[in-house]
Amino acid sequence: MKRREFVKTMPLTALVPAGLAVQTGAALAENAPAAGAPTGQVPAPAISGGSPGTGEVPGFAKYMLTSDMNGLGPDGKPTGQKMTFTGASMADATADAASDQLTLTEEEQAILDGKEGPEKAKLMKILVAFGNAFGAEKLVDLGGAPHSNLFIGAPYMESMIDMLNECADAGLKSYAPYTVNPRPYDVYNVQNNAEEMGLIYQGYPLQAKLDYVHSKLGAPDLNYRSCACYLPEVGNAPESGTYVAWCESSAVNYGNSVLGIRTNRNGAGMDMICAMLGKAPLFGLMTDDGRQAKWLIDVKTSQEPDWGTLGTAIGRKCVEDVPYVAGIDTYFEGGEVTPDNLHKLKAMGSATASSGAVGLYHVEGVTPEPKEKGRDLLVEDYQTYVYDDAEQQRIIDTFENLWEDADGDPTAAFIGCPHNTYHEVVKWGKLVTEALVKAGQEQAAIPVYLFCVNKVRDRLLMEETELAGNMFRAGMHATNMCAVVYSGMKGFGGRVRGITNSAKTRSYSSIRYFPDQILVNTIVTGKIKA
Ligand code: F3S
Repeated sequence: MKRREFVKTMPLTALVPAGLAVQTGAALAENAPAAGAPTGQVPAPAISGGSPGTGEVPGFAKYMLTSDMNGLGPDGKPTGQKMTFTGASMADATADAASDQLTLTEEEQAILDGKEGPEKAKLMKILVAFGNAFGAEKLVDLGGAPHSNLFIGAPYMESMIDMLNECADAGLKSYAPYTVNPRPYDVYNVQNNAEEMGLIYQGYPLQAKLDYVHSKLGAPDLNYRSCACYLPEVGNAPESGTYVAWCESSAVNYGNSVLGIRTNRNGAGMDMICAMLGKAPLFGLMTDDGRQAKWLIDVKTSQEPDWGTLGTAIGRKCVEDVPYVAGIDTYFEGGEVTPDNLHKLKAMGSATASSGAVGLYHVEGVTPEPKEKGRDLLVEDYQTYVYDDAEQQRIIDTFENLWEDADGDPTAAFIGCPHNTYHEVVKWGKLVTEALVKAGQEQAAIPVYLFCVNKVRDRLLMEETELAGNMFRAGMHATNMCAVVYSGMKGFGGRVRGITNSAKTRSYSSIRYFPDQILVNTIVTGKIKA
């Protein structure tokens, strides 16, 4: 089933973009969320059927067994690609071929033998099984700081949270202070009615427990919660070449590509196991071979491409192979990625990671590795995909209207998934408030939710005080939660007709995607206006 059909039938809250994927073969895999998807988590079993460890797939999750990320083309037909969801395509890999080739150092063997306690020994056992399953030959020491996507305190997370607490009680900690994805809800800045508040507190009864264990293991307070951990206001941007073990598809994708760090698309939980050991198995996107591009994406649009649409096209075409994108360096002055233009790659990359499972892309003349190696990054028998105006329009035409009342007017705007940069928040504030002045209105016709880390909101309040006031009066609300999880709340599709600038949000929800100018017009008038 195509993801779009899945979204339409999705019945419950707390559903995060996910795909059920490769099992590690380790103890973790028996109960844990799946590997590799943007959050790698599965829906809460509290709703119906299926319980951890039974091997039973709950009714509500059955469509998650296949997804666009399994290699379905835009026509809904399988592309035949075999997925690992790690961003490391191993088309010919078989379970039988996975062997015990991983060699440990004396120190690692001692940990496995329990010399540093039973908790660390268990973590090492899982890591070794994970590495063996993916053909790793050794573990590497991690640097920089981890990023975790364990952010949903739903009942199905209980065993994972208990495991983390066991580790914290034994005195284990992340090798460095780490960042965590945004929380799944916001009880302050979004107008939740009584029913919605009920859904939040019933849906996420373990949120405080999860937040608490993160704090014990080394995460800072909730003001730093964001999927865009690499923004200057958050500060988790390791140096190029650093090995890390991040989770969160959009962060992995941006980090590998723009920062030049080396991480696979890990499944939720593996982030913390690696963080507590300070090690990860070396395979896939962490290796030179795994970072070679199999696709040349030749962008030939007559104007600046729509970044989310371009990313969607690349994700659908490459699935989890590495693309080498040419023809867009002109939109990055001097070939530099700056705080004022990084949102373009954030939008494109996150779309490649949600419409496909791309964990790394190269941009000719812009991102670090092509600057150094150029087209030597392409494998010998690479394929070429031309993205021109006609192809852009073809992709846009595949974006379905999934609103329950397809002809209704929009009721809310969702801006920023991944989380907005400071530049984007200011840009949207000006776009909307200036359009309102022009229209002689004080308030937007529909509420506008700007998803961003609290630190970005705080910066706005300090540096653009007047604009911040105007935005608030206009009905624009900064919120630090996750856009997609919020839109997965039970009954959301029936209550809300959302519009968004995020191809990732479009990919995982019933919210409709539009270019910026149409969004601004619609926010002002309450009608979808080109
Ligand atoms: Fe961030 Fe949630 Fe979107 S974690 S990337 S706002 S799906």
